[in-house]
Amino acid sequence: MNRKAVVFGASGQLGVELVRELKTRQYAVTGWERAQVDITDCAAVERALAQSDAGVVFNAAAYNLVDVAEKEPQAAFLVNGLAVRNLAVACRQIDARLVHFSTDYVFDGQARHPYAEDDPTHPLGAYAVSKLAGELYAQAYLDRAAVVRTSGVFGPSGLTTARGNFVELMLRLAGMGQAIRVVEDHFASPTYAPLLAARTVDLVDRDLSGVFHIGGGIPISWFQFARTIFELAGLRPLLLATNEREYRNPARRPKYSALSNAKIERLGLQPMPPLREVLAEYLAGRGR
Ligand SMILES: NC(=O)c1ccc[n+]([C@@H]2O[C@H](COP(=O)([O-])OP(=O)(O)OC[C@H]3O[C@@H](n4cnc5c(N)ncnc54)[C@H](OP(=O)(O)O)[C@@H]3O)[C@@H](O)[C@H]2O)c1
Repeated sequence: MNRKAVVFGASGQLGVELVRELKTRQYAVTGWERAQVDITDCAAVERALAQSDAGVVFNAAAYNLVDVAEKEPQAAFLVNGLAVRNLAVACRQIDARLVHFSTDYVFDGQARHPYAEDDPTHPLGAYAVSKLAGELYAQAYLDRAAVVRTSGVFGPSGLTTARGNFVELMLRLAGMGQAIRVVEDHFASPTYAPLLAARTVDLVDRDLSGVFHIGGGIPISWFQFARTIFELAGLRPLLLATNEREYRNPARRPKYSALSNAKIERLGLQPMPPLREVLAEYLAGRGR
């Protein structure tokens, strides 16, 4: 495989880190953000890839508005499903590998253990269905696609993007001086974007394909995550535990969607460091 890489969605939390990580490892990288190449535009994707001579293509672009997707399922499906088909078809034309990212929300949350790659999927809403469709499109058109599922992504660029991330949301709410209610009965495995990027490039460097889980490494409730954020940030807002019965959202979400990293660790990739450690790094970077 040649060491030319293209990253779509290059200004998102993960896209920024992929571009940085690939450059560090001496890949020649082209990053496209939405204003340059909209992945729902099939001709634009084909043009961008035809001129790139890429050996590997990363799709970090996504429609991530889980609740809004219930009102506009077509918009979610266009970006997360059909646009992945655009990418897969164009990758096939230039014989490039596709690395696509998906979500813990492809599961229904009924498991009592962190999800493994071969656990049955059962998405619960429009966003989740659209992400599962993207996985299927990547695998339908390409024999050697890599699909990386992740969970609760937070990275430095969440500080400046409109969508942000959970850490930024908590810090913003703390600044408003009101009580903050966070669910204690939903669990995920929050994942630090720079490490997600690094582990993904490890997979590519080892020429691996298939489905992989790269999560933060430990299951934690959103309430506990919020508590840890405030503790490490030295803040003391009024934080109250709530649950899904009290705190209703338009979209159904899996109650337990932590991902197991056992497969990537068996393949020799480094385990994820403790969440407190990466959160402290995130907060220190934010201070700078
Ligand atoms: N964030 C999470 O908590 C989470 C959890 C599980 C899985 N994931 C998955 O992880 C991956 C990375 O997520 P992230 O946190 O980096 O998301 P993000 O910060 O929201 O970035 C997504 C990027 O995609 C771009 N984009 C949206 N529609 C596009 C289009 N039609 N064409 C080109 N670019 C488009 C966005 O650009 P604009 O800003 O211009 O719209 C944005 O820069 C995604 O596959 C996501 O589904 C994320």
